[in-house]
Amino acid sequence: MNDVLDVWLYGTRAATVHPQRSGMSLTWSEEAVRRWGTGSRVVSHLLPIGTAEGAQPARVRAWLEGLLPEGRARSAMAAEHRIDPDDTLAMLAVYGKDTAGAVVLVDEGAPDPATTGRLEPVDADEIAEMLTHAARHGGGGNRLDSLTSLAGMEPKVALARTAHGWARVRGGAPSTHILKLSRPDGSATRDLIDTEAAALDLARRVGLTSVQAGVERFAHVRAIVVQRYDRVADGGAVRRIHQEDLAQALGLSTADPDRKFQRGRALPSYSAAAAVLTDGGSTPDPLLRLATFTVLVGNTDAHAKNHSFLRHDDGARVDLAPAYDVSMHEHTGVSSGLLALDIAGRRAIAEITVDDLVAEGASWGLAPARALRVVRQTVDATAAALADIDRSAHPGVSMQAWAQVERRVQQLA
Ligand SMILES: Nc1ncnc2c1ncn2[C@@H]1O[C@H](COP(=O)(O)OP(=O)(O)OP(=O)(O)O)[C@@H](O)[C@H]1O
Ligand SMILES: [Mg+2]
Repeated sequence: MNDVLDVWLYGTRAATVHPQRSGMSLTWSEEAVRRWGTGSRVVSHLLPIGTAEGAQPARVRAWLEGLLPEGRARSAMAAEHRIDPDDTLAMLAVYGKDTAGAVVLVDEGAPDPATTGRLEPVDADEIAEMLTHAARHGGGGNRLDSLTSLAGMEPKVALARTAHGWARVRGGAPSTHILKLSRPDGSATRDLIDTEAAALDLARRVGLTSVQAGVERFAHVRAIVVQRYDRVADGGAVRRIHQEDLAQALGLSTADPDRKFQRGRALPSYSAAAAVLTDGGSTPDPLLRLATFTVLVGNTDAHAKNHSFLRHDDGARVDLAPAYDVSMHEHTGVSSGLLALDIAGRRAIAEITVDDLVAEGASWGLAPARALRVVRQTVDATAAALADIDRSAHPGVSMQAWAQVERRVQQLA
């Protein structure tokens, strides 16, 4: 329990975190205060720079924990390196050099990670091995400084795609893609990565995401390859864009993986997500668009860690992140049929109406006429996308899955 880590963001050493019994103590650097100003939420909604609340140990702990995978995936990653899974700083000392968004965690006093990153080429066999290893152990391989920490429960690895092929990232180099392993053939949700690629294709057509994704084969394994929206090509280099998810923004600890679902609780909620946007000077319209799309595609897994916010390097701007981890669940037969976040107090996806979506948007302060326009536009755009999409490009998506989306679109149209 003696890892002290520096937090780098956008080329600045922003803070140092120390372990503490009740959480973690955080000290903001003078450079961060000078660059972004006291109260800036560039790191997180939860942690305004240079303020007492932005250094509160319980908040710091919840936010940093949110960078790690949950549940069994976390304990397996911890076991792999003989770390206590509750020792968040020790976990991040190993896995925190490439994570969601632009934060990079290094040992205190270590050089700027932008100067230490390197890539190590991997071939299809090695990628297959990394993915099956992740499925067995929850981690991403067995070499200490090459690992990326991402939230979520699915076995995944993060790699960089270069002009010469795939590479493992080491020493703080940014990954550019996330690869998630297919569920096993016999599983009731074996088409999960196929419907994710299809739902992202629809979302792109509707204007809800920029993410390119497709199902690919690496030796004997199938995986979805998802382009990272928090990485941008900048000349020959890759630049990170910062993001945090809704659970982090609200300070919800996901040590209990169930806590990211609302299930009748006050938090997480769509209205709290809307408040993160409006507090940051953004409009909540894109969130209502995404909520509508979530109902249309039957994405009952749209929980707090599947909604994120982009935080730009000016230290002020916040935007809803592009749609990610969207997939079709309703057709599977093992679906609960319950939305992860309530809409106008309702949870059963089959009961959600246009009026409910409008009421939800209105509860965030949107004028009802504006909310209605947003919902209608999203339903129309999704209907058009469904008519246009090349279904033969998604051979793993069954007739039943498409028909279920058609039914929801007709119901809301
Ligand atoms: N395209 C993307 N660009 C940038 N970050 C992403 C992208 N997709 C996912 N992420 C980040 O990686 C995390 C894990 O990815 P994802 O949600 O796809 O995994 P998962 O294991 O399927 O999650 P779940 O447990 O919700 O099923 C996300 O919570 C998000 O922070
Ligand atoms: Mg997810």
